[in-house]
Amino acid sequence: MHYEIKPGQGKIVTAAIDRYREAMKGVTGEEFKALKRAFFKDLIPRLDKIIAPEMMLTYDIGGITRDDRESCYVGPNVSIERDVSIGENVIFEGNNYIHAGTSIGNNVLIQANTVIGGEAYSHEYIDGKLVHLPHIGGVIIGDDVVIGSCVCIDRGLLGRTILCTGCRIDNLVHIAHDVVVGTNALVVACAMIGGRVVIGNGAWIAPNSSIKNGITVGTNSMVGLHACVLNDVPDDVVVYGVPAKEKK
Ligand SMILES: CC(C)(COP(=O)(O)OP(=O)(O)OC[C@H]1O[C@@H](n2cnc3c(N)ncnc32)[C@H](O)[C@@H]1OP(=O)(O)O)[C@@H](O)C(=O)NCCC(=O)NCCS
Repeated sequence: MHYEIKPGQGKIVTAAIDRYREAMKGVTGEEFKALKRAFFKDLIPRLDKIIAPEMMLTYDIGGITRDDRESCYVGPNVSIERDVSIGENVIFEGNNYIHAGTSIGNNVLIQANTVIGGEAYSHEYIDGKLVHLPHIGGVIIGDDVVIGSCVCIDRGLLGRTILCTGCRIDNLVHIAHDVVVGTNALVVACAMIGGRVVIGNGAWIAPNSSIKNGITVGTNSMVGLHACVLNDVPDDVVVYGVPAKEKK
């Protein structure tokens, strides 16, 4: 499954999220919070129905839907839920947990203790009560991807979290819901990638950096050690520091 960010593609979201964003345009402060609460209040009862197992999304990306584990190595204590599509030559080291709705390409290495497609960290006060917002999207992992140990990759809200072909994720990285990691991008140890972030093709995200939700890091750009990225990063630049600024 060859998967890469194409110009203008950016985030893969469903029409529902697009409608939500459209409604939120130009809205700030308390009004934004109220609209967000209203959106999820409306969505959650419907999700209860949608989330029934038989309704769980199945994927047909690039024509690959087959579940061929014969050429794969599955280590001890690996759990793979239903509706997981697996390519050829995939190595699951011990204790991996792969949630429903995950699609994995060919030649992928997933090191020990990694969780893919888990529920996102998303909570909202609704009528004074803290409510967890269920995510029903999935995860797509392209070909030739390497994912280190103790990595958590959350599934999308309604769309997918995507690791494009050839990207490399180091140990202890957190990748939140609906993130896109570009082709051959590198995300190094302990980086925290917030929800809906897009990491451009060939970008380098250094250890311990935090990237705020919704940010885009440009193609071939580098985020330095321990940076806190609060604004979009253009293509072909180096940013570092807290908050991250472009290296001149
Ligand atoms: C951001 C980075 C690319 C800059 O490297 P560089 O261009 O060689 O920059 P320099 O080392 O010449 O430093 C230039 C200035 O920026 C500062 N600086 C460099 N990296 C910094 C960082 N991550 N955070 C804050 N300040 C940083 C330096 O202290 C120096 O400041 P000064 O001019 O006041 O002395 C580099 O420091 C970095 O973070 N690389 C990532 C390394 C990595 O990913 N390692 C993991 C390998 S598995």
